[in-house]
Amino acid sequence: MSIKNIRLEVMQFLEKNVDSFVEQYLIPVEKIWQPSDFLPNSEGENFFEEVKELREIAKELPYDFWVTLVGDTITEEALPTYESWLMDVEGINQIENGGNGWSKWIRQWTGEENRHGDLLNKYLYLSGRVNMREIEMTTQHLINDGFDIGTGSDPYKNFVYTSFQELATYVSHNRVAQMAKKFGDNKLSKMCKMIAGDEMRHHHAYSEFVTRIFAVDPSEMMLAFQYMMKQKIVMPAHFLRESGQKISSAFEQFSDSAQRIGVYTASDYVDIMQKLMDKWEIDKMTGLTDEAEKARDYLMKLPARMARISERLVIPQESHIFKWVEPARL
Ligand SMILES: [Fe+2]
Ligand SMILES: [Fe+2]
Repeated sequence: MSIKNIRLEVMQFLEKNVDSFVEQYLIPVEKIWQPSDFLPNSEGENFFEEVKELREIAKELPYDFWVTLVGDTITEEALPTYESWLMDVEGINQIENGGNGWSKWIRQWTGEENRHGDLLNKYLYLSGRVNMREIEMTTQHLINDGFDIGTGSDPYKNFVYTSFQELATYVSHNRVAQMAKKFGDNKLSKMCKMIAGDEMRHHHAYSEFVTRIFAVDPSEMMLAFQYMMKQKIVMPAHFLRESGQKISSAFEQFSDSAQRIGVYTASDYVDIMQKLMDKWEIDKMTGLTDEAEKARDYLMKLPARMARISERLVIPQESHIFKWVEPARL
């Protein structure tokens, strides 16, 4: 049987449990938080006072913080790209017979994710600290440009990607929450905490899918993991650009801001890699082919190697000035 057919069979085998994955890792619409739970109530008597207070507190937050929050928001707002990408993965099908179980998972995951950009966007709009039109143009560019995360339509590689990515977004939203708190912005802190909680749940789900694939197809899963770690996980907003620019280093500049304030750093990348290896018990995996054994050896040495490289990394001290955030207004 070809590699592709085995993957399809594995996906069909796991699909039998999709309902239980939805039940265990996702939350019903009526029970889950919604953006308006954390925003000033626009129907309420005190709306303007609440907005005024939100804006006063927002004045305390520094430049790199805003850049990071804007970049995180845009990343969340490009959700249509991620949903359409995942719907194309082998074994996931939204059309035949009204869609298979996996497409149900993707839709409901998307439904949860959609609240993140919604909440952050509304917060940024109310804060009065950022240029919303510029942010909206970057978001539209990002959706127009699409992305390539190097997974192809391989479910194994895609689930490695999502396992990694959900944990990375957990780390960054959680750090933003901690920083907001430090600056006295308890409401923004709470918003980011809630989002981080979702990301962690999603991480648990996707990494569980990989655990289950390891149980039935260990060698191929190991090779897919090695492939993704070798080429490195590119962030979903990799192709970020500001308005009026064709080619841009905006993503690197946004990452520099995030590194400078410690929201997401090169050493977080290494930590996440290590956490995935621990979770999947890469060191204890048995029944591997020779090729997969070699892949495992490569993987086991990788975190230490990457840590040495990340120590030598120099982050520029000066902030790039983005059109999204005008320093004169801060
Ligand atoms: Fe998210
Ligand atoms: Fe996520």
